[in-house]
Amino acid sequence: METQPFILDRRSFLKQSSLAGAGLLILPSGIMAGTNSPNDKLNIALIGAWGRATGHYAWLKEQNVVAICDINEAHFAPALKEFPKAETYIDWRKCLDHKNLDAVVICTADHHHAFISNWALNRGLHVYCEKPLAISVEEARTLRANWLGKKGKIATQCGTQMHAQDNYARVKEMVRDGAIGELQSAVGWGNRKIPRDGYFPAQGKPPTGLHWDLWLGPSPERPYHPDYFVGKPGANCLQWNMFWDWGLGQIGDMGSHMMDFVWNTIDATSPTTIKASGEPFNPDVTPVLLEIHFDHPANDWRGPIQVSWHQGGSLPRSPREFIDLNTIGHGVMFKGSEGFLIADYTKRLLIPSGKDPDLSYYKPRAKKDQLPPIGQFQQQWVDACKDPSKEICCNFEYHSLLIEQMLLGLIAYRTGETLEYDGAKGLITNHAEAKALFKRKYRDGWTLNG
Ligand SMILES: NC(=O)c1ccc[n+]([C@@H]2O[C@H](COP(=O)([O-])OP(=O)(O)OC[C@H]3O[C@@H](n4cnc5c(N)ncnc54)[C@H](O)[C@@H]3O)[C@@H](O)[C@H]2O)c1
Repeated sequence: METQPFILDRRSFLKQSSLAGAGLLILPSGIMAGTNSPNDKLNIALIGAWGRATGHYAWLKEQNVVAICDINEAHFAPALKEFPKAETYIDWRKCLDHKNLDAVVICTADHHHAFISNWALNRGLHVYCEKPLAISVEEARTLRANWLGKKGKIATQCGTQMHAQDNYARVKEMVRDGAIGELQSAVGWGNRKIPRDGYFPAQGKPPTGLHWDLWLGPSPERPYHPDYFVGKPGANCLQWNMFWDWGLGQIGDMGSHMMDFVWNTIDATSPTTIKASGEPFNPDVTPVLLEIHFDHPANDWRGPIQVSWHQGGSLPRSPREFIDLNTIGHGVMFKGSEGFLIADYTKRLLIPSGKDPDLSYYKPRAKKDQLPPIGQFQQQWVDACKDPSKEICCNFEYHSLLIEQMLLGLIAYRTGETLEYDGAKGLITNHAEAKALFKRKYRDGWTLNG
Protein backbone atom coordinates (compact mmCIF):
# COMPACT_ATOMS: atom_id res chain seq x y z
CA MET A 1 0.00 0.00 0.00
CA GLU A 2 1.19 3.50 -0.82
CA THR A 3 2.54 5.29 2.24
CA GLN A 4 2.46 9.05 2.74
CA PRO A 5 3.93 11.02 5.60
CA PHE A 6 1.48 11.80 8.41
CA ILE A 7 -1.30 9.85 6.75
CA LEU A 8 -2.34 6.58 8.30
CA ASP A 9 -2.73 3.69 5.92
CA ARG A 10 -5.99 1.80 6.21
CA ARG A 11 -4.49 -1.14 8.12
CA SER A 12 -2.96 1.10 10.82
CA PHE A 13 -6.16 3.06 11.05
CA LEU A 14 -8.20 -0.07 11.67
CA LYS A 15 -5.76 -1.14 14.37
CA GLN A 16 -5.74 2.25 16.06
CA SER A 17 -9.48 2.70 15.98
CA SER A 18 -9.90 -0.73 17.52
CA LEU A 19 -7.41 0.17 20.23
CA ALA A 20 -8.68 3.66 20.84
CA GLY A 21 -12.35 2.75 20.73
CA ALA A 22 -14.92 4.15 18.32
CA GLY A 23 -15.14 7.92 18.31
CA LEU A 24 -11.83 8.60 20.04
CA LEU A 25 -9.77 8.77 16.89
CA ILE A 26 -10.84 11.68 14.70
CA LEU A 27 -9.53 11.87 11.18
CA PRO A 28 -10.36 14.21 8.33
CA SER A 29 -12.49 12.61 5.65
CA GLY A 30 -10.83 11.01 2.65
CA ILE A 31 -7.74 10.12 4.63
CA MET A 32 -7.81 6.45 3.68
CA ALA A 33 -7.07 5.67 0.10
CA GLY A 34 -9.97 3.99 -1.63
CA THR A 35 -12.63 4.45 1.02
CA ASN A 36 -15.40 7.00 1.04
CA SER A 37 -15.45 7.69 4.74
CA PRO A 38 -13.13 6.90 7.59
CA ASN A 39 -14.62 4.14 9.70
CA ASP A 40 -13.37 1.06 11.43
CA LYS A 41 -15.10 -1.38 9.10
CA LEU A 42 -13.18 -3.93 7.10
CA ASN A 43 -13.37 -3.97 3.30
CA ILE A 44 -14.18 -7.62 2.66
CA ALA A 45 -14.42 -9.82 -0.44
CA LEU A 46 -16.90 -12.67 0.03
CA ILE A 47 -15.77 -15.57 -2.17
CA GLY A 48 -18.50 -18.19 -2.56
CA ALA A 49 -21.61 -16.10 -2.02
CA TRP A 50 -24.44 -18.59 -1.47
CA GLY A 51 -24.94 -21.73 0.67
CA ARG A 52 -22.69 -21.63 3.73
CA ALA A 53 -22.01 -17.94 2.98
CA THR A 54 -25.63 -17.05 3.84
CA GLY A 55 -24.83 -18.12 7.43
CA HIS A 56 -22.22 -15.34 7.51
CA TYR A 57 -24.40 -12.56 6.08
CA ALA A 58 -25.54 -11.22 9.48
CA TRP A 59 -22.07 -10.48 10.88
CA LEU A 60 -20.71 -9.49 7.46
CA LYS A 61 -23.35 -6.74 7.30
CA GLU A 62 -21.50 -5.03 10.16
CA GLN A 63 -18.50 -4.68 7.80
CA ASN A 64 -18.10 -3.37 4.21
CA VAL A 65 -18.58 -6.23 1.79
CA VAL A 66 -17.13 -4.53 -1.28
CA ALA A 67 -16.72 -7.55 -3.56
CA ILE A 68 -18.66 -10.75 -4.13
CA CYS A 69 -17.29 -13.65 -6.12
CA ASP A 70 -19.18 -16.73 -7.26
CA ILE A 71 -18.75 -19.14 -10.18
CA ASN A 72 -22.56 -19.31 -10.36
CA GLU A 73 -23.99 -15.95 -11.42
CA ALA A 74 -27.44 -17.04 -10.18
CA HIS A 75 -26.00 -16.70 -6.68
CA PHE A 76 -25.22 -13.00 -7.00
CA ALA A 77 -28.82 -11.84 -6.49
CA PRO A 78 -29.31 -13.04 -2.88
CA ALA A 79 -25.90 -11.70 -1.89
CA LEU A 80 -26.41 -8.36 -3.64
CA LYS A 81 -29.67 -7.94 -1.75
CA GLU A 82 -27.58 -7.90 1.44
CA PHE A 83 -24.54 -6.09 0.03
CA PRO A 84 -25.91 -3.87 -2.75
CA LYS A 85 -22.72 -1.87 -3.25
CA ALA A 86 -20.48 -4.88 -3.83
CA GLU A 87 -18.80 -5.44 -7.17
CA THR A 88 -19.26 -8.95 -8.61
CA TYR A 89 -16.64 -11.38 -9.92
CA ILE A 90 -16.75 -14.93 -11.25
CA ASP A 91 -13.01 -15.65 -10.88
CA TRP A 92 -11.50 -15.32 -7.41
CA ARG A 93 -8.07 -14.59 -8.89
CA LYS A 94 -9.47 -11.31 -10.26
CA CYS A 95 -11.53 -10.63 -7.15
CA LEU A 96 -8.40 -10.69 -4.95
CA ASP A 97 -7.13 -7.68 -6.89
CA HIS A 98 -10.18 -5.59 -5.98
CA LYS A 99 -8.87 -2.22 -4.78
CA ASN A 100 -8.42 -1.53 -1.06
CA LEU A 101 -9.41 -4.94 0.23
CA ASP A 102 -8.58 -5.68 3.86
CA ALA A 103 -9.83 -9.23 4.13
CA VAL A 104 -11.47 -12.22 2.44
CA VAL A 105 -14.12 -14.66 3.62
CA ILE A 106 -13.94 -17.95 1.70
CA CYS A 107 -17.01 -20.19 1.41
CA THR A 108 -16.24 -22.01 -1.86
CA ALA A 109 -15.86 -25.70 -2.58
CA ASP A 110 -13.00 -27.26 -0.56
CA HIS A 111 -10.54 -27.73 -3.44
CA HIS A 112 -10.14 -23.95 -3.74
CA HIS A 113 -9.66 -23.21 -0.02
CA ALA A 114 -5.88 -23.47 0.19
CA PHE A 115 -5.44 -21.69 -3.14
CA ILE A 116 -7.56 -18.67 -2.30
CA SER A 117 -6.19 -18.49 1.25
CA ASN A 118 -2.58 -18.63 0.11
CA TRP A 119 -3.06 -16.08 -2.66
CA ALA A 120 -4.83 -13.80 -0.17
CA LEU A 121 -2.00 -14.14 2.38
CA ASN A 122 0.46 -13.31 -0.40
CA ARG A 123 -1.46 -10.05 -0.89
CA GLY A 124 -1.39 -9.18 2.81
CA LEU A 125 -5.11 -9.84 3.31
CA HIS A 126 -6.71 -11.20 6.47
CA VAL A 127 -8.40 -14.55 5.79
CA TYR A 128 -11.46 -16.33 7.18
CA CYS A 129 -11.76 -19.69 5.38
CA GLU A 130 -14.38 -22.37 5.79
CA LYS A 131 -13.21 -25.80 6.85
CA PRO A 132 -11.35 -27.85 5.73
CA LEU A 133 -8.49 -25.48 5.06
CA ALA A 134 -6.67 -27.89 2.78
CA ILE A 135 -7.17 -31.20 0.97
CA SER A 136 -3.51 -32.23 0.77
CA VAL A 137 -0.63 -32.34 3.24
CA GLU A 138 1.32 -29.99 0.99
CA GLU A 139 -1.50 -27.44 1.02
CA ALA A 140 -1.80 -27.57 4.81
CA ARG A 141 1.95 -27.04 5.21
CA THR A 142 2.08 -24.22 2.66
CA LEU A 143 -0.64 -22.26 4.45
CA ARG A 144 0.91 -22.84 7.85
CA ALA A 145 4.34 -21.65 6.73
CA ASN A 146 2.93 -18.63 4.91
CA TRP A 147 0.81 -17.52 7.84
CA LEU A 148 3.51 -18.13 10.48
CA GLY A 149 5.70 -15.72 8.50
CA LYS A 150 2.97 -13.09 8.85
CA LYS A 151 1.72 -13.87 12.36
CA GLY A 152 1.06 -10.72 14.33
CA LYS A 153 0.29 -8.77 11.15
CA ILE A 154 -2.40 -10.88 9.49
CA ALA A 155 -5.42 -12.50 11.14
CA THR A 156 -6.52 -15.98 10.02
CA GLN A 157 -9.42 -18.13 11.16
CA CYS A 158 -10.72 -21.49 9.93
CA GLY A 159 -14.52 -21.82 10.02
CA THR A 160 -14.91 -24.35 12.84
CA GLN A 161 -17.29 -22.04 14.65
CA MET A 162 -18.49 -24.75 17.07
CA HIS A 163 -15.19 -24.17 18.86
CA ALA A 164 -16.83 -21.16 20.53
CA GLN A 165 -19.43 -23.36 22.26
CA ASP A 166 -19.14 -23.25 26.05
CA ASN A 167 -19.17 -27.05 26.08
CA TYR A 168 -15.76 -27.18 24.38
CA ALA A 169 -14.26 -25.20 27.25
CA ARG A 170 -16.10 -27.14 29.99
CA VAL A 171 -14.98 -30.50 28.55
CA LYS A 172 -11.39 -29.29 28.27
CA GLU A 173 -11.45 -28.14 31.90
CA MET A 174 -12.95 -31.42 33.10
CA VAL A 175 -10.30 -33.51 31.36
CA ARG A 176 -7.51 -31.22 32.59
CA ASP A 177 -8.88 -31.19 36.13
CA GLY A 178 -8.97 -34.97 36.38
CA ALA A 179 -12.73 -35.66 36.07
CA ILE A 180 -11.79 -38.96 34.38
CA GLY A 181 -8.41 -39.44 36.10
CA GLU A 182 -5.34 -39.86 33.90
CA LEU A 183 -6.28 -39.37 30.23
CA GLN A 184 -5.72 -42.55 28.21
CA SER A 185 -7.50 -42.04 24.89
CA ALA A 186 -9.60 -39.57 22.91
CA VAL A 187 -11.95 -40.29 20.04
CA GLY A 188 -14.25 -38.42 17.67
CA TRP A 189 -16.89 -39.91 15.37
CA GLY A 190 -19.52 -39.09 12.77
CA ASN A 191 -22.27 -41.36 11.49
CA ARG A 192 -23.15 -39.65 8.19
CA LYS A 193 -23.17 -41.97 5.18
CA ILE A 194 -23.34 -40.72 1.59
CA PRO A 195 -22.22 -43.64 -0.58
CA ARG A 196 -21.27 -42.98 -4.21
CA ASP A 197 -19.79 -45.31 -6.84
CA GLY A 198 -17.76 -42.73 -8.72
CA TYR A 199 -17.85 -39.34 -10.43
CA PHE A 200 -21.13 -38.85 -12.27
CA PRO A 201 -21.10 -39.42 -16.05
CA ALA A 202 -21.50 -36.40 -18.35
CA GLN A 203 -25.06 -35.11 -18.37
CA GLY A 204 -26.33 -31.97 -20.03
CA LYS A 205 -24.65 -28.62 -20.09
CA PRO A 206 -24.16 -26.24 -17.16
CA PRO A 207 -26.95 -23.64 -17.00
CA THR A 208 -26.05 -20.20 -18.32
CA GLY A 209 -24.04 -18.39 -15.69
CA LEU A 210 -22.63 -21.51 -14.00
CA HIS A 211 -18.94 -21.54 -14.84
CA TRP A 212 -18.06 -25.24 -14.53
CA ASP A 213 -14.45 -24.81 -15.61
CA LEU A 214 -13.90 -22.21 -12.86
CA TRP A 215 -15.64 -24.50 -10.36
CA LEU A 216 -13.16 -27.27 -11.28
CA GLY A 217 -10.35 -24.74 -10.91
CA PRO A 218 -7.04 -26.44 -10.08
CA SER A 219 -8.57 -29.96 -10.06
CA PRO A 220 -8.51 -32.24 -13.13
CA GLU A 221 -11.08 -31.81 -15.86
CA ARG A 222 -14.30 -33.77 -15.25
CA PRO A 223 -17.62 -33.76 -17.09
CA TYR A 224 -20.45 -31.62 -15.70
CA HIS A 225 -23.44 -33.27 -14.02
CA PRO A 226 -26.34 -31.32 -12.48
CA ASP A 227 -26.43 -33.51 -9.35
CA TYR A 228 -23.32 -31.78 -8.04
CA PHE A 229 -25.52 -28.73 -7.45
CA VAL A 230 -28.87 -29.97 -6.14
CA GLY A 231 -28.20 -29.61 -2.40
CA LYS A 232 -30.00 -27.23 -0.06
CA PRO A 233 -28.23 -23.97 0.88
CA GLY A 234 -25.37 -24.77 3.25
CA ALA A 235 -25.65 -28.50 2.56
CA ASN A 236 -24.71 -28.56 -1.12
CA CYS A 237 -21.18 -29.51 -0.07
CA LEU A 238 -22.62 -33.00 0.57
CA GLN A 239 -23.08 -33.32 -3.21
CA TRP A 240 -19.36 -33.06 -4.02
CA ASN A 241 -17.14 -33.27 -0.93
CA MET A 242 -16.82 -37.09 -1.01
CA PHE A 243 -14.91 -37.03 -4.33
CA TRP A 244 -11.11 -37.07 -3.93
CA ASP A 245 -10.55 -34.16 -6.35
CA TRP A 246 -12.83 -31.83 -4.40
CA GLY A 247 -12.88 -32.79 -0.74
CA LEU A 248 -12.07 -35.23 2.05
CA GLY A 249 -15.49 -36.77 2.65
CA GLN A 250 -16.60 -36.85 6.28
CA ILE A 251 -13.08 -36.15 7.53
CA GLY A 252 -13.12 -32.68 6.01
CA ASP A 253 -16.78 -32.16 6.77
CA MET A 254 -17.88 -33.14 10.31
CA GLY A 255 -14.41 -34.51 11.08
CA SER A 256 -13.09 -30.93 11.02
CA HIS A 257 -15.54 -30.01 13.78
CA MET A 258 -15.33 -33.13 15.95
CA MET A 259 -11.56 -33.53 15.75
CA ASP A 260 -11.26 -29.84 16.61
CA PHE A 261 -13.15 -30.72 19.81
CA VAL A 262 -10.70 -33.58 20.50
CA TRP A 263 -7.60 -31.62 19.44
CA ASN A 264 -8.48 -28.63 21.62
CA THR A 265 -9.15 -30.81 24.66
CA ILE A 266 -5.96 -32.87 24.52
CA ASP A 267 -3.54 -30.08 23.44
CA ALA A 268 -2.43 -32.28 20.58
CA THR A 269 0.92 -32.31 18.82
CA SER A 270 2.00 -34.55 15.94
CA PRO A 271 1.28 -38.30 16.04
CA THR A 272 4.08 -40.87 16.10
CA THR A 273 2.16 -43.69 14.38
CA ILE A 274 -0.93 -43.72 12.17
CA LYS A 275 -3.03 -46.69 11.07
CA ALA A 276 -6.39 -46.83 9.33
CA SER A 277 -8.89 -49.31 7.96
CA GLY A 278 -12.18 -49.10 6.11
CA GLU A 279 -14.02 -50.15 3.02
CA PRO A 280 -11.99 -51.06 -0.11
CA PHE A 281 -10.22 -48.09 -1.73
CA ASN A 282 -12.11 -46.36 -4.54
CA PRO A 283 -9.95 -44.05 -6.70
CA ASP A 284 -12.89 -41.66 -7.26
CA VAL A 285 -14.59 -41.53 -3.88
CA THR A 286 -13.37 -41.13 -0.30
CA PRO A 287 -14.47 -43.96 2.02
CA VAL A 288 -17.78 -43.92 3.89
CA LEU A 289 -16.67 -46.57 6.41
CA LEU A 290 -13.37 -45.64 8.00
CA GLU A 291 -11.49 -45.62 11.27
CA ILE A 292 -8.11 -44.07 11.99
CA HIS A 293 -5.91 -44.49 15.06
CA PHE A 294 -2.99 -42.26 15.97
CA ASP A 295 -0.45 -42.64 18.76
CA HIS A 296 0.19 -39.26 20.35
CA PRO A 297 3.22 -38.62 22.55
CA ALA A 298 2.96 -37.26 26.10
CA ASN A 299 2.82 -33.52 26.62
CA ASP A 300 3.41 -31.41 29.74
CA TRP A 301 0.16 -32.40 31.46
CA ARG A 302 -0.64 -35.96 30.31
CA GLY A 303 0.99 -39.21 29.25
CA PRO A 304 0.98 -40.74 25.74
CA ILE A 305 -2.53 -41.42 24.44
CA GLN A 306 -4.33 -43.00 21.52
CA VAL A 307 -6.39 -40.60 19.38
CA SER A 308 -9.01 -42.02 16.99
CA TRP A 309 -11.58 -41.05 14.38
CA HIS A 310 -14.54 -43.27 13.35
CA GLN A 311 -17.02 -42.63 10.55
CA GLY A 312 -19.73 -44.07 8.36
CA GLY A 313 -20.83 -46.98 10.57
CA SER A 314 -17.64 -47.53 12.57
CA LEU A 315 -17.97 -46.47 16.21
CA PRO A 316 -15.83 -46.69 19.32
CA ARG A 317 -16.94 -49.23 21.93
CA SER A 318 -19.54 -47.80 24.25
CA PRO A 319 -18.45 -47.67 27.90
CA ARG A 320 -21.89 -48.96 29.00
CA GLU A 321 -24.26 -51.36 27.22
CA PHE A 322 -27.19 -48.97 27.78
CA ILE A 323 -25.45 -46.08 25.98
CA ASP A 324 -25.87 -46.25 22.21
CA LEU A 325 -23.17 -43.98 20.78
CA ASN A 326 -24.90 -44.12 17.41
CA THR A 327 -27.67 -41.91 18.81
CA ILE A 328 -25.03 -39.19 19.15
CA GLY A 329 -24.62 -38.49 15.44
CA HIS A 330 -21.39 -36.58 15.88
CA GLY A 331 -19.60 -36.96 19.17
CA VAL A 332 -16.39 -37.22 21.15
CA MET A 333 -15.34 -39.43 24.04
CA PHE A 334 -12.40 -39.23 26.42
CA LYS A 335 -11.33 -42.27 28.46
CA GLY A 336 -9.29 -41.95 31.62
CA SER A 337 -8.13 -44.13 34.48
CA GLU A 338 -11.26 -43.19 36.47
CA GLY A 339 -13.99 -42.93 33.86
CA PHE A 340 -15.36 -41.63 30.58
CA LEU A 341 -16.53 -38.26 29.33
CA ILE A 342 -18.87 -38.30 26.33
CA ALA A 343 -19.95 -35.09 24.59
CA ASP A 344 -21.55 -33.54 21.55
CA TYR A 345 -21.45 -29.82 20.73
CA THR A 346 -23.60 -28.74 23.65
CA LYS A 347 -24.00 -31.63 26.11
CA ARG A 348 -21.64 -33.79 28.17
CA LEU A 349 -21.95 -36.95 30.20
CA LEU A 350 -19.47 -38.01 32.87
CA ILE A 351 -19.32 -41.75 33.64
CA PRO A 352 -17.07 -42.72 36.56
CA SER A 353 -15.76 -46.26 36.15
CA GLY A 354 -13.19 -46.82 38.90
CA LYS A 355 -13.59 -49.38 41.71
CA ASP A 356 -15.18 -46.82 43.95
CA PRO A 357 -16.74 -44.37 41.52
CA ASP A 358 -17.70 -41.68 44.03
CA LEU A 359 -15.96 -38.85 42.15
CA SER A 360 -14.18 -37.85 45.36
CA TYR A 361 -10.94 -37.45 43.34
CA TYR A 362 -12.45 -34.65 41.26
CA LYS A 363 -13.16 -31.10 42.32
CA PRO A 364 -15.05 -29.12 39.65
CA ARG A 365 -13.49 -25.77 38.78
CA ALA A 366 -14.95 -22.65 40.38
CA LYS A 367 -16.78 -20.40 37.93
CA LYS A 368 -14.20 -17.65 38.38
CA ASP A 369 -11.44 -20.05 37.24
CA GLN A 370 -13.20 -21.23 34.10
CA LEU A 371 -11.62 -20.65 30.69
CA PRO A 372 -12.78 -17.29 29.35
CA PRO A 373 -15.55 -17.47 26.72
CA ILE A 374 -14.49 -16.98 23.09
CA GLY A 375 -17.62 -14.96 22.37
CA GLN A 376 -18.96 -14.69 18.84
CA PHE A 377 -16.56 -16.75 16.74
CA GLN A 378 -16.36 -14.55 13.65
CA GLN A 379 -16.15 -11.41 15.81
CA GLN A 380 -12.94 -12.81 17.28
CA TRP A 381 -11.49 -12.76 13.76
CA VAL A 382 -12.86 -9.27 12.98
CA ASP A 383 -11.26 -7.95 16.18
CA ALA A 384 -7.95 -9.57 15.27
CA CYS A 385 -8.05 -8.09 11.75
CA LYS A 386 -8.09 -4.70 13.44
CA ASP A 387 -5.43 -5.69 15.95
CA PRO A 388 -3.57 -8.80 14.67
CA SER A 389 -1.66 -9.17 17.93
CA LYS A 390 -4.88 -10.66 19.35
CA GLU A 391 -5.07 -14.46 19.62
CA ILE A 392 -7.46 -16.45 17.43
CA CYS A 393 -8.59 -19.89 18.56
CA CYS A 394 -8.73 -21.60 15.13
CA ASN A 395 -5.94 -19.81 13.31
CA PHE A 396 -4.17 -21.33 10.32
CA GLU A 397 -1.44 -22.92 12.43
CA TYR A 398 -3.95 -24.67 14.67
CA HIS A 399 -6.27 -25.96 11.94
CA SER A 400 -3.55 -26.82 9.41
CA LEU A 401 -1.87 -29.12 11.96
CA LEU A 402 -5.21 -30.77 12.73
CA ILE A 403 -6.22 -31.29 9.10
CA GLU A 404 -2.70 -32.41 8.18
CA GLN A 405 -2.98 -35.18 10.77
CA MET A 406 -6.32 -36.29 9.33
CA LEU A 407 -4.81 -36.22 5.82
CA LEU A 408 -2.01 -38.49 7.09
CA GLY A 409 -4.79 -40.78 8.31
CA LEU A 410 -6.16 -40.94 4.77
CA ILE A 411 -2.67 -41.76 3.49
CA ALA A 412 -2.46 -44.61 6.03
CA TYR A 413 -5.84 -45.83 4.72
CA ARG A 414 -4.59 -45.70 1.12
CA THR A 415 -1.33 -47.52 1.83
CA GLY A 416 -2.94 -50.04 4.19
CA GLU A 417 0.19 -49.85 6.39
CA THR A 418 0.84 -48.63 9.92
CA LEU A 419 2.86 -45.49 9.24
CA GLU A 420 5.60 -44.22 11.52
CA TYR A 421 5.77 -40.45 11.57
CA ASP A 422 8.47 -37.98 12.55
CA GLY A 423 6.47 -34.81 13.24
CA ALA A 424 9.54 -32.58 13.68
CA LYS A 425 10.79 -33.48 10.19
CA GLY A 426 7.31 -33.98 8.71
CA LEU A 427 8.37 -37.38 7.39
CA ILE A 428 6.83 -40.84 7.20
CA THR A 429 9.88 -42.88 8.09
CA ASN A 430 8.86 -46.43 7.15
CA HIS A 431 7.11 -46.06 3.80
CA ALA A 432 8.97 -44.42 0.92
CA GLU A 433 6.00 -44.24 -1.48
CA ALA A 434 3.60 -42.60 1.00
CA LYS A 435 5.28 -39.22 0.40
CA ALA A 436 3.90 -39.15 -3.14
CA LEU A 437 0.44 -38.84 -1.57
CA PHE A 438 1.35 -35.58 0.22
CA LYS A 439 0.59 -33.63 -2.96
CA ARG A 440 -2.23 -33.47 -5.45
CA LYS A 441 -1.71 -32.72 -9.11
CA TYR A 442 -3.04 -29.40 -10.38
CA ARG A 443 -4.31 -28.52 -13.81
CA ASP A 444 -2.02 -26.51 -16.05
CA GLY A 445 -2.36 -22.81 -15.41
CA TRP A 446 -3.12 -23.17 -11.68
CA THR A 447 -0.55 -22.56 -8.98
CA LEU A 448 -0.95 -22.74 -5.22
CA ASN A 449 1.49 -19.89 -4.76
CA GLY A 450 0.10 -17.05 -6.86
N1 LIG B 1 -18.65 -24.28 9.21
C1 LIG B 1 -19.74 -24.98 8.95
O1 LIG B 1 -20.48 -25.37 9.85
C2 LIG B 1 -20.08 -25.28 7.52
C3 LIG B 1 -21.39 -25.65 7.16
C4 LIG B 1 -21.64 -25.92 5.81
C5 LIG B 1 -20.62 -25.82 4.87
N2 LIG B 1 -19.36 -25.46 5.26
C6 LIG B 1 -18.27 -25.34 4.28
O2 LIG B 1 -18.59 -24.27 3.41
C7 LIG B 1 -18.11 -24.55 2.10
C8 LIG B 1 -19.24 -24.37 1.11
O3 LIG B 1 -20.23 -25.33 1.35
P1 LIG B 1 -21.67 -25.16 0.67
O4 LIG B 1 -22.51 -26.27 1.13
O5 LIG B 1 -22.13 -23.79 0.81
O6 LIG B 1 -21.24 -25.47 -0.87
P2 LIG B 1 -21.84 -24.92 -2.27
O7 LIG B 1 -21.57 -25.95 -3.31
O8 LIG B 1 -23.25 -24.48 -2.07
O9 LIG B 1 -20.92 -23.67 -2.55
C9 LIG B 1 -21.07 -22.45 -1.89
C10 LIG B 1 -21.01 -21.29 -2.85
O10 LIG B 1 -19.68 -21.18 -3.37
C11 LIG B 1 -19.76 -21.04 -4.79
N3 LIG B 1 -18.48 -21.52 -5.30
C12 LIG B 1 -18.03 -22.80 -5.34
N4 LIG B 1 -16.77 -22.84 -5.82
C13 LIG B 1 -16.43 -21.54 -6.09
C14 LIG B 1 -15.25 -20.90 -6.59
N5 LIG B 1 -14.18 -21.59 -6.96
N6 LIG B 1 -15.24 -19.55 -6.70
C15 LIG B 1 -16.33 -18.83 -6.34
N7 LIG B 1 -17.48 -19.37 -5.88
C16 LIG B 1 -17.51 -20.71 -5.75
C17 LIG B 1 -21.00 -21.84 -5.18
O11 LIG B 1 -21.49 -21.46 -6.45
C18 LIG B 1 -21.94 -21.45 -4.06
O12 LIG B 1 -22.57 -20.23 -4.30
C19 LIG B 1 -17.53 -25.95 2.15
O13 LIG B 1 -16.14 -25.86 2.23
C20 LIG B 1 -18.09 -26.56 3.41
O14 LIG B 1 -17.19 -27.47 4.02
C21 LIG B 1 -19.09 -25.18 6.55
